[in-house]
Amino acid sequence: MTNSSDDRKDLAVSQDAHPILPDCKKILVSREEFLKLLGLSLSGLMGLLIVAPSAVFMLNYLFVPSRHPWIKIGSVDSFKEGETIDVHFDDPDALSWEGVTRRLSTWLRREKNNVFTAFAINCTHLGCPVRWEAGADLFLCPCHGGVYYSNGDVAAGPPPMPLHRYPVRIANGQVEIQMRPILTEG
Ligand code: FES
Repeated sequence: MTNSSDDRKDLAVSQDAHPILPDCKKILVSREEFLKLLGLSLSGLMGLLIVAPSAVFMLNYLFVPSRHPWIKIGSVDSFKEGETIDVHFDDPDALSWEGVTRRLSTWLRREKNNVFTAFAINCTHLGCPVRWEAGADLFLCPCHGGVYYSNGDVAAGPPPMPLHRYPVRIANGQVEIQMRPILTEG
């Protein structure tokens, strides 16, 4: 019992003798105090560098509304009724260093007159790009044999849901599409 009490006293004395925080008055005259300040400052800086990116990401995610601009992809008359074609265009929000990843695409189908459907090119199973087989009137996924009908519904294979669609509108004779991030099953 006495020993334990003595140990605690020794620990308290030891902490008093070597406090963790530097004594500001002695920083310029004591190497030990200066090194303590330097060590604490560097630890704080490293902590800040580790935490800051996550904090900025979280704040950006929570408070900055994401933009989904309408993108012009061609005049209405340039698409034939009943045809599904692969349309490529640039992401207007892309940054200069994004290179080829700024190129986006969609499978666009002109149903009739001004009715268009824009399908995401990615399979809803694990995201492989699907291709349109005009002869069979089907979308085929090369990865695991997923098959979709021309309206995007699943015809066969592992895809858990129909192809994703993007909003489409006609404005001033132009077909416009609104691209949004999509999630696959994986
Ligand atoms: S990714 Fe298309 S079927 Fe698996």
